[in-house]
Amino acid sequence: MEQELKQYLSPVWTHVTEAMIVRGEGVYLYDREGKRYLDFTSGIGVTNTGHCHPRVVEAIRRQAGELIFGQMNIVMHPPVFELIGELRQVVPAELDRFFFGNSGAEAVEGAVKLAKHATGRPNVIVFQGSFHGRTHLTMAMTTSKTVYRTRYQPLVSGIFVSPYPYPYYYGWDEATTREFAIRELKRLLKSQSAPDETACIVIEPVLGEGGYVVPPPGFLQELRELCDHYGILLVADEIQSGFGRTGRYFAVDHEAVVPDIMTLAKGIASGVPLSCIAYRQALGERWLTGSHGGTFGGNPLACAAGAASVRVIREEKLAENAAARGRQLLEGLRKLQGRFPQIGEVRGRGLMVATEFSRKGEPDEHTTKAVSQGAAEAGLLLLTCGTFGNVVRWIPPLVVREEQIDEALGVFARVLAGL
Ligand SMILES: Cc1ncc(COP(=O)(O)O)c(C=O)c1O
Repeated sequence: MEQELKQYLSPVWTHVTEAMIVRGEGVYLYDREGKRYLDFTSGIGVTNTGHCHPRVVEAIRRQAGELIFGQMNIVMHPPVFELIGELRQVVPAELDRFFFGNSGAEAVEGAVKLAKHATGRPNVIVFQGSFHGRTHLTMAMTTSKTVYRTRYQPLVSGIFVSPYPYPYYYGWDEATTREFAIRELKRLLKSQSAPDETACIVIEPVLGEGGYVVPPPGFLQELRELCDHYGILLVADEIQSGFGRTGRYFAVDHEAVVPDIMTLAKGIASGVPLSCIAYRQALGERWLTGSHGGTFGGNPLACAAGAASVRVIREEKLAENAAARGRQLLEGLRKLQGRFPQIGEVRGRGLMVATEFSRKGEPDEHTTKAVSQGAAEAGLLLLTCGTFGNVVRWIPPLVVREEQIDEALGVFARVLAGL
């Protein structure tokens, strides 16, 4: 039946595999024939607690039996406060106001709207390679690949792009790349968007879709200082890097940088659509009541899933596991890099890890595609990323165990050896 109905599915979606998945458990997905897939995509960084974590399933079941929907403009309900209580334990304490939406793009839209109200300034600065979503505003803020913008242009104005400090791409060491990125940002503030016209600088504290790039040490702190100097708000888009993914609750925690606004989604509710804007109370005083909202944001079912997910991440120490398993993964991939010279760089933080493929100093999209396809056929789901499509990203659920990392490394090595 599905085969016949497939023709009606919008072809605008891409698919890593056309496997018909009927069940998920931990790091595994199962198709109808019972074939097992090791899911090292986490549904693009969503199932941090693993597929169908029993405590998340139980919270959803319980909430569905009590109250599926209570609209936030009309009523209040306990799950939204349960979620805020959980978030207060992991989000930097300075960010003490929470707004909820449904998708990452929606959170980024809301964050920019808040920054405009709070500063009275019109412009936004983003970084080269960024991915912030697919709505019209967030598409304008997204520079990871032209496919996200092609034939949608012209886009929203007032968005300016500065280089992301990406040492491997530039071929420089970390300090040189950091200095370059800061210098270019200062130039942009002098040449294109004056500080008093710049509401916010939005950054992925580990670049996601653009190539899984960890910025050089000190870069985020310098950015914080620059923002403070000019009264520009710093927005950390932690939609992909958040909720334990990098080995801490949030990627900004590695540098002890507290942004003014943080956008959260993906891992927050283990797959139930939910996003969040966390921000400083002082900003909210200038956010006109009623000027932002949405029908489904903060609904009880999503909040119950969110509260359970954040609790599981905290109580089951999934960020700690991400740090340990991430070290194992990096070490294993670096060993493979010695055997397979196509792997130009192995990098990452926690379980946000990348292998970038190069050939004669040029991005090697061909090998990257072949590896991800070969791995999927062998039962290991891996996503690619990067502007040139030459990066494999490793992003398993944070419940992944040592032997499962070894299993994935084994599949990857066999696929590479067979190319
Ligand atoms: C850093 C980042 N921001 C925003 C988004 C957009 O989130 P969504 O697809 O939920 O709209 C994504 C999605 O991949 C992302 O990685």
